[in-house]
Amino acid sequence: METKRITIKDREHPQDGELREAAEILRTGGLVAFPTETVYGLGANALDEEAAKRIYAAKGRPSDNPLIAHIAGESGLAPLVSRIPEAAKKLMEAFWPGPLTMIFPKSEAVPYGTTGGLETVAVRMPSDPVANRLIALAGVPVAAPSANTSGRPSPTTADHVWEDMNGRIEMVVDGGPVGIGVESTIVDVTGEVPMVLRPGAITMEMLRDLLGEVEIDPAIIGPMSPDAHPKAPGMKYRHYAPKADMTLVEGEPEAMAETICLLAGESLAQGKRVGVICTEETRHFYPESLMEKTVVRSMGQRAKEETIAHNLYAVLREFDELDVDCIYCEGFPRTELGQAIMNRLTKAAGHKIIQA
Ligand code: TXA
Ligand code: MG
Repeated sequence: METKRITIKDREHPQDGELREAAEILRTGGLVAFPTETVYGLGANALDEEAAKRIYAAKGRPSDNPLIAHIAGESGLAPLVSRIPEAAKKLMEAFWPGPLTMIFPKSEAVPYGTTGGLETVAVRMPSDPVANRLIALAGVPVAAPSANTSGRPSPTTADHVWEDMNGRIEMVVDGGPVGIGVESTIVDVTGEVPMVLRPGAITMEMLRDLLGEVEIDPAIIGPMSPDAHPKAPGMKYRHYAPKADMTLVEGEPEAMAETICLLAGESLAQGKRVGVICTEETRHFYPESLMEKTVVRSMGQRAKEETIAHNLYAVLREFDELDVDCIYCEGFPRTELGQAIMNRLTKAAGHKIIQA
C-alpha cells in the first residue's frame, strides 16, 4: 500500500481543507496516523470492528490489548459509555481536553474488537488542535494506539511514524514534534476509588489534589511476576524496548554518574559497544576519556522534567540506530512527572535497575 503523507502548515490552526481527506479515510474504515499532545496515534473508526482489526495488523499488536477511543468534545462520551461516575465528571472538568484517559463501563455501541473483549472502554479527549479537528471532521470516535510497531518506542515525530508505518496505512498527518512525549495518564473510574493504570503528564499529585484518595495499580511500581495481571492489559508487554540491553541506575546524580562510569568501563573492557543516557546537569561528571569511547546522549534537564519526557523516546529510537550492545541510563525521582518517566525507563530496561 502507498502511504500518503501530508504536512499541516500551522499546527495551532489546522485548516479543514488540510484534514478533509484524512477524515474521509477514517470515516470509511482506513488508517491515519496523526499527532496528539502526548505521542502520535494510529487512528481508525472506533465503532468499526474491521477497522480496529487493521490497527492490530499494522502494529503487529496482540489483539487482547484494548484501544483508546478518542473524542473531540464532551458530547462524544455519552454514546460510548453506560455510566459516567462522579469522579469522572470532576476529572473531565479539570483535565479534558488533555493527556488523561479514563476507563468507563462500555455501551453496546462499542465493539469488543476495540476493547479487546473487555466490558470497559478507554476514552480520551486530546487537546492537540490537529487531533481535535481531525476527530471532529471524521464525525466518529477514533480508536488510536501509539503509532509505533508493537514493542518499539512510541513515535513523537512524523518521521518516527514513517519508519514504522510506511506502506502499512493510508496516511500520515505530519503536525511536527509532539509536546509532552509520553502517553496519557490512564485512570480507571469504574471502581469505588479511582485507580491509575498508567502514569503520565497528569500526575498522581494532581489527581490526589482534585479527588483525595487515588490508588495506583501495584503492577506499575514493582517488577511484574509472570502471573500478575495489570489492569491495563498493555502494561504487561515489554514495551518501549530498545534493541540494546539497557540498565537503569538510580541514586543521587553524582553517585549515578560514578556507577555508570564503572559499569561502562567494565563493558568496554569486554569489547562491547556502550551507550550512556545522562542529563544536562550530570554530563560534566563523565570524564572525557570515557566519552570518547562511548555514545553519550543527554535526555534534557533534570530541573525541567518535561524536557526529559519530551526527548525520552527519540533518544531510545536513536540508540536503536546506533548499534550499541548495552545502554546505561540515569534514573529520576519517582514523583510528579518523574513517575511517568521512570515507568517508561523501567520497562525499557526490562526492570534491570541498579542502586548507585
Ligand atoms: O497518549 C495516549 O494515550 C496515546 C495517544 C495516541 O492518545 N495512545 C496510547 O494508546 O498510548 P496505546 O494503545 O499505546 O495504549 C493504551 C493503553 C494500553 O496499555 C491498554 O492496555 C490500555 O490503554 N487500555 C485501553 N483500554 C483499556 C480498558 N478498557 N481497560 C484497561 N486498560 C485499557
Ligand atoms: Mg503504545
